[in-house]
Amino acid sequence: MTLTHLSEEQREIVSLARNFARDEVTPFAAQWDRDSHFEPSLVKKLGDLGFLGLMIPEEFDGMGLDTLTYLLALEEIARADASVAVMLSVHNSLPTQMLLRWGNEAQKERFLKPMARGELLGAFALSEAESGSDASSLRCQAVRDGDDWIISGTKTWVTSGSHAGVIIAMVRTDASDARRGSKGISAFIITPDLPGFSVSKKEDKMGLRASPTVQLVFDHCRVPADRLLGDEGQGFIYAMQSLDNGRLGIAAQALGIAQAALDASLAYAAERRQFGTAIRDFQAIQFKLADMASRITASRALLHATAAAKDRGEPTTAFGAMSKLMASETAMWAATEAVQIFGGYGYVKDYPVEKLFRDAKITEIYEGTSEIQRVVIARQLYAQQD
Ligand code: CAA
Repeated sequence: MTLTHLSEEQREIVSLARNFARDEVTPFAAQWDRDSHFEPSLVKKLGDLGFLGLMIPEEFDGMGLDTLTYLLALEEIARADASVAVMLSVHNSLPTQMLLRWGNEAQKERFLKPMARGELLGAFALSEAESGSDASSLRCQAVRDGDDWIISGTKTWVTSGSHAGVIIAMVRTDASDARRGSKGISAFIITPDLPGFSVSKKEDKMGLRASPTVQLVFDHCRVPADRLLGDEGQGFIYAMQSLDNGRLGIAAQALGIAQAALDASLAYAAERRQFGTAIRDFQAIQFKLADMASRITASRALLHATAAAKDRGEPTTAFGAMSKLMASETAMWAATEAVQIFGGYGYVKDYPVEKLFRDAKITEIYEGTSEIQRVVIARQLYAQQD
């Protein structure tokens, strides 16, 4: 259910995503979740569909679609499995957009084009063990050595980091006292073949278990100077601007989870009988279903309006934070209501809502917690007041 008018092309993309999810994701998602298994063949299959280059212009081998179309596809995939959706969201919103925006021609040729074709998966490395919400306190450091940089430190919570061919990592290139904090951070294009780079701990997570979340270790990792992305010292600003877009992807992922919770609840409420009638006949259940549909529709309308504003070139930092905040809290709330509607069956793995409940939680945490979204929104309000 959407208020947004969709073009013929957008309908086709939605249907492509829905059919792909039906055939290649839904039948396997529960097993991947149980086994904590990332299915590498999905990268090639999604690449063949063009879904790893959705917003990359055709001149760089992408589909050249707008933000709304990308988000529509993402929501459909998330409806089937949030793990597959986050792989798509991170790749499409963060590393590819960073290369498109700040990469030079050689970097676009070498990294962006194969990423758009689905030959290289992308990841984004900002967080560290002691630098999460306070992103600018990161300590991973690069020291110049002739034509190279030597990077030392550890990045944490890196989605797809174990399978990525390209990782955009934010690293401190100027540690002098005067330039601590958000200044003196640069973005680097990291590939797994670099000496001194390794993938370490894979997290054992509550949800999104089919999406690998790993630590990356840089042990005096030698990185050629031509791997610097954009201007030295601009890495934090690049990361923040990219997260403005990334948060739209996470909002679409959250909406997919919320919609799946509503779909499952509607089906179950029609078939489950108690006190001699289908439970959907009870007002207690009707109110839950109506509230779920209302909140999902409102969150979706905000997200789609934000996507349109972004494509018109308007600033969307606050609206993006609102979209992510509303959609993720809707997802967690809708999944909780779905478990309640299913009762005991909602608490076991035989039915889908237990997984939706676990998957929903992370959308309130990553790419900025709900608290950080509120900070971003409040700061924008104050800036308009000044
Ligand atoms: N766009 C452009 N510039 C921005 C910006 C934005 N959205 N946000 C901040 N900046 C700029 C500021 O203007 C400022 O620039 P100047 O110094 O030139 O004035 C600079 O960045 C520093 O900004 P702040 O002083 O506001 O920085 P701060 O240290 O107070 O932090 C914050 C702000 C919003 C709390 C930020 O740290 C933040 O977003 N934290 C959350 C981090 C996050 O979302 N992490 C996600 C990890 S990635 C992930 O989860 C991906 C995954 O794999 C799924």
